Amino acid sequence: MTRPKRRAPAAAVGPAGRPGTLRAVGVIHVQPKPTIEPEGLAPMPWYVPTPPPWPREDLRLDRPTSARLANLALGGKDHLGPDRTLLDLLQAEDQDWTTTALRARQDLHRVVRRLAEDGLDQFVDLGCGLTTGAPGSPLAPIHTSILPIRPTARIAYVDIDPMVMTHARALLHAPAPGQVRHIRADLTAPEGLLQELRQHSDVDWQRPIAVVLADVLHELSDPQARGLFSALRLALPQGSALVLTHRCTGESDRDARVSGLFAQARLPRHPRGRDAVDTLLDGWQRQAPAHGGDTAVVRTVVAYGGTK
Ligand SMILES: C[S@@+](CC[C@H](N)C(=O)[O-])C[C@H]1O[C@@H](n2cnc3c(N)ncnc32)[C@H](O)[C@@H]1O
Repeated sequence: MTRPKRRAPAAAVGPAGRPGTLRAVGVIHVQPKPTIEPEGLAPMPWYVPTPPPWPREDLRLDRPTSARLANLALGGKDHLGPDRTLLDLLQAEDQDWTTTALRARQDLHRVVRRLAEDGLDQFVDLGCGLTTGAPGSPLAPIHTSILPIRPTARIAYVDIDPMVMTHARALLHAPAPGQVRHIRADLTAPEGLLQELRQHSDVDWQRPIAVVLADVLHELSDPQARGLFSALRLALPQGSALVLTHRCTGESDRDARVSGLFAQARLPRHPRGRDAVDTLLDGWQRQAPAHGGDTAVVRTVVAYGGTK
């Protein structure tokens, strides 16, 4: 066996009060990691080994993505330098930026629990993001709130970001095969989205479904949002629900500067006030605020619709 090479100390502690001076404090021998042989693993019934069909540039490593930005704001670890720079700039404009994100996520978990208690047992999380945190944490995926109440529920996670898909496939599991699915689709192309959901999820389209849009609608223009809502209303069975969280804005200079930061980062942003959010929901039957949540900044709405 070859002996591991001695490594020069990469990081060392400088003498007190002398920043930047290095002093050797010891040598760490790094043993090579044991290789895990794939054939040694038990087959995973929920895992569909699809090779990533996306080009590397889709990962957008050189600029922020909304999934990584949200992950950072919610206290996650799946983010890069450009995401951190953007969040710093956003926080400088609005010191409550991360608090608002946390508040919206808490509302979401409260609402999906409530819907599960009301009997809903099928959920589709559109624009799920990098929400692969531990149960009870802000980044917990919604199935961690649903399954303790409805253990046989079906949940489909959808996103367009390939990094989200990779994380979701690796980390979002549920006890039974098929209970949790991860689907890459584009919300701005609702027919394709519905087709993907029908083909690749175990959702039963004859029974009510709760569709979640958490902190994502601001990435869609009004025509795109209306197109999505009308396709959903036509496709969903009666008794289905829509859960929406939306950061609400006003007309202030600060909002304009925030939009400027998103534009610089080449991230879509369609700011909306409370009334504009409500207008998009024309045709849906909104529930009392007890179901949703109502602060000046986060609009959490539950609305019933579906025409099939
Ligand atoms: C701000 S993150 C919110 C993530 C999560 N829902 C949450 O509550 O924190 C928005 C997510 O929507 C996804 N998204 C944006 N536009 C999309 C589109 N056209 N189709 C599918 N997903 C989209 C992004 O990739 C991102 O993961």
